[in-house]
Amino acid sequence: MAPDRLSNEELVERAREVRNHAYAPYSEYPVGAALLTRSGNVFEGVNVENAAYPTTMCAERNAVFTAVSQGERAFDVIAVVTENGGEPCGACRQVLSEFGLDLLVIAADAHGNIKMQAKLSELLPNAFGPQDLIVP
Ligand code: THU
Repeated sequence: MAPDRLSNEELVERAREVRNHAYAPYSEYPVGAALLTRSGNVFEGVNVENAAYPTTMCAERNAVFTAVSQGERAFDVIAVVTENGGEPCGACRQVLSEFGLDLLVIAADAHGNIKMQAKLSELLPNAFGPQDLIVP
């Protein structure tokens, strides 16, 4: 039997827990993300920093890339936990948009308090997408 679908609160808790694995020695701003797929699976990610700063990867994108690597492309909710409830950066919004603007994005603080909850379509209006590519 398929496991019960996680509630938004449970997804936030998963992001809060995985945040403990963030590798953020430079910014000291650990981030945890938990992505709920339409199929009910959860994929987690943390930010992974590097001494060559720009090669750092965000938690949200690590979660998406892991999910896609496992054959999942339909996403319903992403929960992101930071110290203060900071919201996903523009690059992560763009990567998420590739898989649908109907995604619910939840930003919570380190205590699990939800600070922001919105559809990706609101967070990234007029997103650049495949429709913008000029295909000969
Ligand atoms: N960070 C994320 O993981 N996700 C975001 O959406 C914003 C920023 C990370 C990158 C870096 O390791 C740290 O937070 C500070 O920018």
